[in-house]
Amino acid sequence: MLSSLKPKITSILKEKEKSVENRLTEVCQLLKDSITYYNWVGFYFKNGDKDELKLGPYVGEPTDHTIIPFGKGICGQVAVSNENFVVPDVAAQDNYIACSITVKSEIVIPLFKDGKNIGQIDIDSNTPDPFTEEDERFLEFVNEKVAEIL
Ligand code: SME
Repeated sequence: MLSSLKPKITSILKEKEKSVENRLTEVCQLLKDSITYYNWVGFYFKNGDKDELKLGPYVGEPTDHTIIPFGKGICGQVAVSNENFVVPDVAAQDNYIACSITVKSEIVIPLFKDGKNIGQIDIDSNTPDPFTEEDERFLEFVNEKVAEIL
């Protein structure tokens, strides 16, 4: 059950002696280590006043895509749609930015602070079609908790 991770998420984010960046990295690590089909876990945030996303804390293979213009790829589309985007099969997407050939599916959930879409959590999976509504609700919870410390 993904819900069983919620108390750990809350306690990591409360560790005020650690930087926000370190706490977010720990959350990424917890998700990647605990959920077998989460193979790359990271946050992107709006880059200042530019219409682009900048890669924040993440765990998994390094990616070349540290800056993503709004509208480009799954992430860039979520920056403008404000909607969750679940991709069961990345090969079926036209507007997709490939980070690794092993990735089969992706989920991106926008992160709102004071009602504004300021970033997102992005998960890549090497498993085809693994994400359900349970992942969406769980990742919405993660983003709500993260927003509280930003
Ligand atoms: N696949 C994403 C790019 C980010 S990587 O997954 C880390 C996209 O299409 O926006």
